[in-house]
Amino acid sequence: MDMIKELVKKSRSYRGYDESRKISKEELMELVDCARFAPSSVNRQPFKYLLAYEQSDLDKIQPLTGWARALPHMKLPHPGKCPTAFIVICQNTDWDPDLTHNLRDVGIVAQTMLLAATEKELGGIMIGNFSQKKLAETMNLPENIVPMLIVAFGKPDEEIVLIEVEAGESLKYYRDDQDTHYVPKRKLNDIIL
Ligand SMILES: Cc1cc2nc3c(=O)[nH]c(=O)nc-3n(C[C@H](O)[C@H](O)[C@H](O)COP(=O)(O)O)c2cc1C
Repeated sequence: MDMIKELVKKSRSYRGYDESRKISKEELMELVDCARFAPSSVNRQPFKYLLAYEQSDLDKIQPLTGWARALPHMKLPHPGKCPTAFIVICQNTDWDPDLTHNLRDVGIVAQTMLLAATEKELGGIMIGNFSQKKLAETMNLPENIVPMLIVAFGKPDEEIVLIEVEAGESLKYYRDDQDTHYVPKRKLNDIIL
């Protein structure tokens, strides 16, 4: 199979990590160094990146993140399986004050970093479920730096299985008794117009 397709399929949204695998500032810098070459609307490149890799910062950010809204009966990540780094994609409002302008760009840089992490045998997940205000306060961000999306990283320590679903079937992800995580994806023929 093509390398890029393999990488995209391997790059799942992980919610369980090996906490003994720390991630260095240099490794996070390398991920951002990939993201900065990504396409950007009107080439605004409006983002700054907060790198969190020290335990004190991880302990501040982790409680502000919401995980697996579709599995409300589970508290994920399980104890001892938290990510060991975060990159917070922030918009610099001095570069563009309109926070609605660059939402597509946020997704592009986030996925670029996740693919780069996957290539290095790491993994991660995008976390949109957080309060911009609380995060900005907790991390003492200046007023012109607005958190847009959190991306968590770590060495994946759980199994995720992609499954193809028929049109009309549920797209809700779920877990079995072994904690294997299943992610339904629509079939190719069902998404082509
Ligand atoms: C923009 C965006 C925000 C997301 N926010 C969260 C989140 O706050 N919490 C969470 O557990 N998962 C979050 N996810 C992960 C999705 O739930 C996940 O992509 C989906 O279940 C499909 O799984 P997959 O990424 O492994 O294909 C987010 C994904 C995207 C693209």
